[in-house]
Amino acid sequence: MSREVLRLENVNKYKGKAHIIKDLSFSVNAGEVFGFLGPNGAGKTSTIRMIVGLNKVSSGSIYINGHDIKKDFKKVIKEVGAIVENPELYPFLSGYDNLVHFAKMNDNVSKERIDEVVALVGLTDAIHMKVRQYSLGMRQRLGIAVSILHRPSVLILDEPTNGLDPAGIKEIRHYIRNLAEKEGVAVIVSSHLLGEIEMMCDRICVIKDGQLVTIQDVNDATSVEQYQFILKATPLDKAQQLLIQLDYVEHTSIVDDALHIKLPEVKVPEMIHALSQAQIAMYAFYREKVNLEARFFEMIGGDSNA
Ligand SMILES: Nc1ncnc2c1ncn2[C@@H]1O[C@H](COP(=O)(O)OP(=O)(O)OP(=O)(O)O)[C@@H](O)[C@H]1O
Ligand SMILES: [Mg+2]
Repeated sequence: MSREVLRLENVNKYKGKAHIIKDLSFSVNAGEVFGFLGPNGAGKTSTIRMIVGLNKVSSGSIYINGHDIKKDFKKVIKEVGAIVENPELYPFLSGYDNLVHFAKMNDNVSKERIDEVVALVGLTDAIHMKVRQYSLGMRQRLGIAVSILHRPSVLILDEPTNGLDPAGIKEIRHYIRNLAEKEGVAVIVSSHLLGEIEMMCDRICVIKDGQLVTIQDVNDATSVEQYQFILKATPLDKAQQLLIQLDYVEHTSIVDDALHIKLPEVKVPEMIHALSQAQIAMYAFYREKVNLEARFFEMIGGDSNA
């Protein structure tokens, strides 16, 4: 049903001796907003630079609409629009004149197309203002307009909400979704902040230390949320030591006065039995949904309270 636009296959990148991208594979479909999430230094920008041809792939392949970027670079790169780091705009020109300027660098960008992209990013009222008078959010949106002039099938935005206030972030989010829906473009948005990416993406790919951690469907509750069990008991450290030794217990952590435990539900009676055999006094035991944010921090090994 959905058409695959971008595919990475076992992509590796070395910088000197450092292995910064490790066997990364994923694919992105037309019309979807794909979140590329990871902590600072995870390898988001490095991956994006390879996709847009700013850096070479050390090994593995990247395909855009089925064409290997190593073999058909000139042809394939026309299918890509991107903002890596900051959009390059001329502050002394109006938004409109910036678009006219960049339109000249592409074939077949009509005046109608310029008006269309202006409307798509919500800049109709401000398009004749000088860019130096633009807010950061407006500049970011103009940057997006420039990058889609040539109707790319993939749009890549590296941390598009960096530095924006909550209102600016909300606007960008709206326009990014709008683009994916109206133009059918596959949008890849990188971020180190889960909260904002969760709200605009269809799927989220988490990377850490250059490696894929997981790809999750945001709207699929079963993949995003998972259950954990909460135990209130004393002595809590003794309970944890016991549980760590049980092979069916996948994870334990002490949070405040409770033990958070991951295990298959069918094993719960067995675990309770083991705890009572060890004379651990149990006061409460219940099941709780783990949200994406908590799972994200679990996956990247950070601290959600940081
Ligand atoms: N030129 C280089 N030489 C050696 N290592 C590099 C070089 N450029 C990047 N790296 C390393 O590659 C890793 C990934 O960096 P990258 O900039 O891709 O991460 P990122 O996910 O974009 O992080 P951020 O959220 O901070 O933008 C980091 O550990 C970084 O130190
Ligand atoms: Mg980066």
